[in-house]
Amino acid sequence: VSKLEQIYEGKAKKVFRTENPDIYWIEYKDSATAFNGEKKAEIENKGVLNNRISALFFQYLAQQGVPSHFVELINDREMLVKSLQIIPVEVVARNTVAGSLAKRVGQPEGTPLAKPVLEFYYKDDALGDPMINEYHIAAMEWATPAQMDAVKAIALKVNDILKEFLAGLNIDLVDFKLEFGLHNGEVLLGDEISPDTCRFWDSRTKEKLDKDRFRRDLGGLEEAYQEILRRLESKLKG
Ligand code: C5P
Repeated sequence: VSKLEQIYEGKAKKVFRTENPDIYWIEYKDSATAFNGEKKAEIENKGVLNNRISALFFQYLAQQGVPSHFVELINDREMLVKSLQIIPVEVVARNTVAGSLAKRVGQPEGTPLAKPVLEFYYKDDALGDPMINEYHIAAMEWATPAQMDAVKAIALKVNDILKEFLAGLNIDLVDFKLEFGLHNGEVLLGDEISPDTCRFWDSRTKEKLDKDRFRRDLGGLEEAYQEILRRLESKLKG
C-alpha cells in the first residue's frame, strides 16, 4: 500500500489514508506534550522509540490472544494499522496509585491497589478529557453496553498480560491508557502502548521510565524510553 493524504494529526502521531480502506498509515512524531498540550517539546527519537515499543507490545499481545489494530512496521517511525472508527473514550487501567488518582483520593504515589481500577475519560481536547462513567457513555451513545463489556474485558486482559510480562523485565506497570475502535463491527485495541501512555517504574529503584520524566522536568526522557526498548528487546525479537 502507499501513503496517501493525511486524515488526522494528533499530538504524537499523524494518520494517513492508503488505497486500501481497511488500512491506515501511522507516523509517530517527536513532539512531546503534557497537561493537555500546554507543555510542549521536541524530543529527538521519541517517535522512533514509541513506534518500535508499541509494535513490540502489540505483537506480544497478539501472541497472547489480544488482537489490536497493529498490522506491521513500515520503518523506524511508521506502522500500518487496521482502520478504526474511534470510540471517543480513553480507558485508564491502574495497579498502583499515581498521577491524577493520587490527587483525587489523597493517597501517596506508590500505594498499591487491592485490585485493578478502570477509569473512563471523554476524548475531547477542548474539554481537557473529563472523567466520565459508563452511564454517560451509554446515554451519549459513544459506545453500546456490549461494546463497553468488550472494552473492559480487553483492558483487564491487557493489564494482566503486560503486568506479568513487565515484572519479568523488572518493570512495575503502574498504570496506562488505552483507546479502542470498531473495525467491521469488532472492538479492537487502537492508538499506541508506549512510555508516553503508560507509567513504568523500575521494580528495584522505582526510577520512572516514562513520560513523567517530561511532565515533571526530571530529564533523561530519551534514555528512559531507550531503556524500556532495550528490556523489551531482550525478551522479544522485533
Ligand atoms: O494523569 P493520570 O494519572 O490520570 O494518567 C494515568 C495514565 O494514563 C498514565 O499512564 C498516563 O500516561 C496515561 N494518560 C495518557 N493520556 C492521557 C491521560 C493519561 O496516556 N490523556
